[in-house]
Amino acid sequence: MTSAAVQDAPVKASPFFEEKVLWVKHWTDRLFSFGLSRPESFRFRSGEFVMIGLPGEDGGKPVLRAYSIASPSWAEELEFFSIKVEDGPLTSRLQKIQPGDTVLLGKKPTGTLVLDALKGGKRLFLIGTGTGLAPWLSVARDPEAFSRFEKVIVCHGVREVDELAYRDFYTADIHDDPLVGDEAKAQLSYYPTVTRQPFERQGRFTDLINSGRLFRDLGLDGEKFNADEDRIMLCGSMDFIKDMGALIESHGLIEGSNAEPGDYVLERAFVG
Ligand code: A2P
Repeated sequence: MTSAAVQDAPVKASPFFEEKVLWVKHWTDRLFSFGLSRPESFRFRSGEFVMIGLPGEDGGKPVLRAYSIASPSWAEELEFFSIKVEDGPLTSRLQKIQPGDTVLLGKKPTGTLVLDALKGGKRLFLIGTGTGLAPWLSVARDPEAFSRFEKVIVCHGVREVDELAYRDFYTADIHDDPLVGDEAKAQLSYYPTVTRQPFERQGRFTDLINSGRLFRDLGLDGEKFNADEDRIMLCGSMDFIKDMGALIESHGLIEGSNAEPGDYVLERAFVG
């Protein structure tokens, strides 16, 4: 090919933004969070996910995975909450990023864990396990969650106590948020549970719901979800969303989507 032909070749727009790492926080040897600069043209709805990646090694293809955006739609920077998998194609490298490094950010955020996919109701349950907490960091910082629902209940289930990342955020820091602090104080509950270590509350969400304990602990009327008033978002492992989805349906709730809002929505959390 001549140099003229190279110059004339159409320039393909990259499907990714190249964004700067602003900060990295390691919670445990299995979990970390990081912040990226946000391109001005990047729009998303609270609760959506996007592809995140790193350029391929030795000039190979970029390595990408879907990540829930853990910041609300109005935030100036983009936050992500990730696991670290020792031999994971992406996370084995991503866990080593430092401020100033470049990370690839997809241009097309999407997903069903959005308020638009739910019908109106009184109580919004955001139930996630592991890094399935990430979308609630977005949705529960969005003023719309508090204007549409009387109560917003963030439920986080993990194996071990130190995996309750963002516990201080939900029990304290969010109350000082300039945009939703007052609403969070009045309307937000945080409901953590641990399954493989002693903790103030233990057990899987499926068991806490089946036994009615979740409703009693939260001081709610009844010992079941109420299809007229309760709306639910689920995010976690494949098994978790399958079992929880079946349980919620047995209480009479119907799955929603962007095209047809319903009583609950679900998404599989990023796994490695
Ligand atoms: P458990 O410790 O009893 O397996 P994981 O890291 O495997 O995604 O698990 C995160 C949390 O979700 C753990 O507390 C785990 O409980 C719980 N969990 C895993 N699978 C299910 C399921 N099918 N139903 C309810 N909870 C689950």
